[in-house]
Amino acid sequence: MLRKKHRKVNTSNINAKGFCPPTPDAIFVPMARRKEAQKAAFNASPNCINADPAIRGNWEAHFGNKQPIVVEIGCGKGDHTVALAKRNPGQNFIGIDLKAARMITGARLADQHGLTNVAFLRANAEHLEQFFAPASVSGMWITFPDPFPKKKQSGRRLTHEHFLAIYLRILKPGAEVKFKTDNLSLFEYTLAHFEELEQKDVVRFKRFAISRNVHADAHMRELAAVTTDYERRFIDMGKPIHFLHFSMEPGANVAAIPVTEPVELDKAEKAPRQSGPSVADI
Ligand SMILES: C[S@@+](CC[C@H](N)C(=O)[O-])C[C@H]1O[C@@H](n2cnc3c(N)ncnc32)[C@H](O)[C@@H]1O
Repeated sequence: MLRKKHRKVNTSNINAKGFCPPTPDAIFVPMARRKEAQKAAFNASPNCINADPAIRGNWEAHFGNKQPIVVEIGCGKGDHTVALAKRNPGQNFIGIDLKAARMITGARLADQHGLTNVAFLRANAEHLEQFFAPASVSGMWITFPDPFPKKKQSGRRLTHEHFLAIYLRILKPGAEVKFKTDNLSLFEYTLAHFEELEQKDVVRFKRFAISRNVHADAHMRELAAVTTDYERRFIDMGKPIHFLHFSMEPGANVAAIPVTEPVELDKAEKAPRQSGPSVADI
């Protein structure tokens, strides 16, 4: 019912990669035009949803089945989401990111592979509850999130308590979360933050696996076998990949997690990219 019909877009100047060759009057803005074309393609794609809250409670209708839902937060180009969907046809995978222009790559890949168990949602992770009913998600991946190394930005880290509280509400009890990062500071912050939340009985965690070099860990290799776009770049640079596999349940003091003002989708998308190895103030 919610499946969109293919809308007609003017593709006369867009090549197979979604690139608009610059016209003489637009010679200085090819990147901007390419992004616009990618966003238009995203909006026109039947397996892409641009922050439409009507999807909440209607994912079964969207996929046409009742398979469990697994989400990937900050999926970027979405190739990891697609690879997981290909490996696990009995589950539905939803890649979520702020940037439609990135996710269209994954949406096209899913089409090429004829996959019907993949969707992409443009949304801020802060707004997940607008798109997912309570206890409706069976699994979650958090892959290479921006580290937000400055202490004052710690609330934007996707493993901060503010996000964990949101995840707790949309995840089914016992749902497993898999977190991967190249950033050791973010990884150590996450482990310490979880311990702190446990001590205050805000959240209780089960840790199934912790690795500071998952691809070198023979018994964990399979669990992390599917790699993301960023991950392959870090592997090529010889960087170890850190991996945490856990589940959570609310503690007695879960209400103590302060509710912060969500950042609007467009503002969040325009926020400067956070990167860099700074550990000083994590
Ligand atoms: C470093 S990239 C990693 C992309 C992909 N997971 C990979 O490993 O190739 C981080 C991604 O997270 C997205 N992101 C950052 N904050 C987000 C938020 N609050 N909600 C949704 N996506 C977010 C960014 O737009 C970006 O695409």
